[in-house]
Amino acid sequence: MSTTQTGPLPNAVPQAADEQKAFGVYIHWPFCLSKCPYCDFNSHVRHAGIDEARFARAFAAEIAAAAARVPGRTVSTIFLGGGTPSLMQPATVAALLDAVAKHWRVAPDAEITLEANPTSVEATRFRGYRAAGVNRVSLGVQALDDGALAELGRLHSAREALDAVAVARAAFERYSFDLIYARPRQTPRDWANELERALAEAGEHLSLYQLTIEAETPFAVLHAAGKLKTPDEDAARALYDTTQDVCAAHGRPAYEVSNHARPGGECRHNLIYWRMHEYAGVGPGAHGRLDVGGERHATATEKRPEVWLAQVETRGEGLVTDDVLIREEIADEFLLMGLRLAEGIDIARYAALAGRPLDPERIAALCEKGMIETTAGGRLRVSASGFPVLDAVVADLAA
Ligand SMILES: C[S@@+](CC[C@H](N)C(=O)[O-])C[C@H]1O[C@@H](n2cnc3c(N)ncnc32)[C@H](O)[C@@H]1O
Ligand code: SF4
Repeated sequence: MSTTQTGPLPNAVPQAADEQKAFGVYIHWPFCLSKCPYCDFNSHVRHAGIDEARFARAFAAEIAAAAARVPGRTVSTIFLGGGTPSLMQPATVAALLDAVAKHWRVAPDAEITLEANPTSVEATRFRGYRAAGVNRVSLGVQALDDGALAELGRLHSAREALDAVAVARAAFERYSFDLIYARPRQTPRDWANELERALAEAGEHLSLYQLTIEAETPFAVLHAAGKLKTPDEDAARALYDTTQDVCAAHGRPAYEVSNHARPGGECRHNLIYWRMHEYAGVGPGAHGRLDVGGERHATATEKRPEVWLAQVETRGEGLVTDDVLIREEIADEFLLMGLRLAEGIDIARYAALAGRPLDPERIAALCEKGMIETTAGGRLRVSASGFPVLDAVVADLAA
């Protein structure tokens, strides 16, 4: 029996009328020179050399498999993340970008970002990455203080990181760097000074992450033993407020909880996640969201690099999860991701996804408390006083 579909399927992801649908490709390079004690990303240290050509062939196979599921897309962004993608030879990066271009059309103005560690060795490869097609780098500077960098287990000094930023500035049209704040013993005054120095070196974009103690990391062990003291709630709040004030005063306000940019300088790839557009996740431990046959699929690949490699070499892809999301899950994800953005969410798009509107009484109560605001354009966004308690605001709205 055949049926005629007159509207979107229940699990499809309707877009807001004002939003162009974007498609991104995330490629995960899972290796690092050493493991930073705070980090729980899927990153692995290998003392024997890595067969980059063999991994590149596996990445190309997985890109082909993803393209077979979602053919005909135009790629608006590519993000090479890690791990440490700047350990790859430029020829490997070129091979990965060629594989993407072989299976999908890549928009002429596509944003192509590579995450780099700011060491002098890695900076020597930047021009090679530019020649391969990368047009934006994101550097993990983390701190501009050598003592703090040593405590974070970083392999570079502040000077070396700033030199790498200068090489990035010369090689790419766009660059960003990351700093971690709310570090042990850090005061708002110290942080304001460090941030001012960072802003003088920054371009259109920077990411400022509050140090999170992730389970099962060396920092978690030290923290539990009382040997690593992080700022308490009030001190962390003061550091957060300093971040907002200093960045806004320097023309790079937060457009997302931890991301700051001049208007127009936002990371277009990360906006795809937060605006719930579509992206393919390729490489060990990569996540994706694919719209296949009117359903939204949440995908994830095998995390262990060599196991992933063996699986791709035998089956052509490394998927370990491929779940069809139900309407409630899609709507919750939309709320969770979209409310991280200063622009907030389109209220009508939420209603279309959830099959019901947000509860007007909850909206009114949160507006009354000054946690959220609604706009004449039909959007709902978290206010400056709501952002520090974002999780509670989202939980309240989603309930
Ligand atoms: C995939 S990681 C790193 C990229 C690159 N490998 C590097 O370290 O320079 C992306 C960013 O997440 C941030 N990050 C990682 N773990 C964190 C944690 N526990 N707390 C806060 N920020 C963290 C760091 O700023 C890091 O640059
Ligand atoms: S912070 Fe970067 S370099 Fe350090 S372990 Fe994580 S991914 Fe690797």
